[in-house]
Amino acid sequence: MTPVKDVEVTIAIAKGRLQDEALRLFERAGISLPESAMESRRLCIADISGQYNFIFVKPGDVPVYVEYGVADAGICGWDVMMESGADVHEPLDLNFGFCRLVVAGKPESAAQGYSPLVTARVATKYPKVTADYFQRRGIPVELIVLSGSVELAPVLGLSNLIVDLVETGRTLRDNGLVIIDAIASSTARLIVNRASHHLKRAAIATLLINLKAAMAPAENVPSK
Ligand code: PRP
Repeated sequence: MTPVKDVEVTIAIAKGRLQDEALRLFERAGISLPESAMESRRLCIADISGQYNFIFVKPGDVPVYVEYGVADAGICGWDVMMESGADVHEPLDLNFGFCRLVVAGKPESAAQGYSPLVTARVATKYPKVTADYFQRRGIPVELIVLSGSVELAPVLGLSNLIVDLVETGRTLRDNGLVIIDAIASSTARLIVNRASHHLKRAAIATLLINLKAAMAPAENVPSK
């Protein structure tokens, strides 16, 4: 493993779905967090070598911390990147956390389809991506921005449709919803602050080499 010398790199990790797999990847790359710290609720934890600092934040906040340079790098889903539009470097598709961003609704909404004469009421955590999707199709849209449990919205009549992530499809199925259209596929990405990419060039390059080496061979593909 190539060591990083005397440079502290701060890495923002999206809490939730991607966190465990991200930490396993770092572990395989030789970057481990002390067990005692992981059992605590601390949100800022140095790795055992003391060369990396990890901060644990909400997925949507990862691009914010990285764009502003509070974190040099971060791991979040492509879905979050699409929504944030943050100006960051995105050097590596980590090829885990596969999911899709979809339009979904009750089966009767799927049967009706969209009409340019009817405003689609759409609940989502992804207002920018959703607005863009409907505007491109010439469908008037009313956005209802929620921060979680989005599938409840059509069930309770808050919206007709949702735009949300689907991983296994279980949440949709268990709530009687169906996929109407797939907007995009998503995987976990490593993102890097543009200034850190230059100012901490050696440390970031080493991190990338170690992470690529830690990915399974089939997963060891650079992002487009
Ligand atoms: C995500 C997403 C769906 C669910 C999909 O929610 O928003 O609700 O996972 O997963 P599935 O297809 O495997 O059922 P998350 O768990 O991040 O929580 P949230 O509802 O609070 O956003």
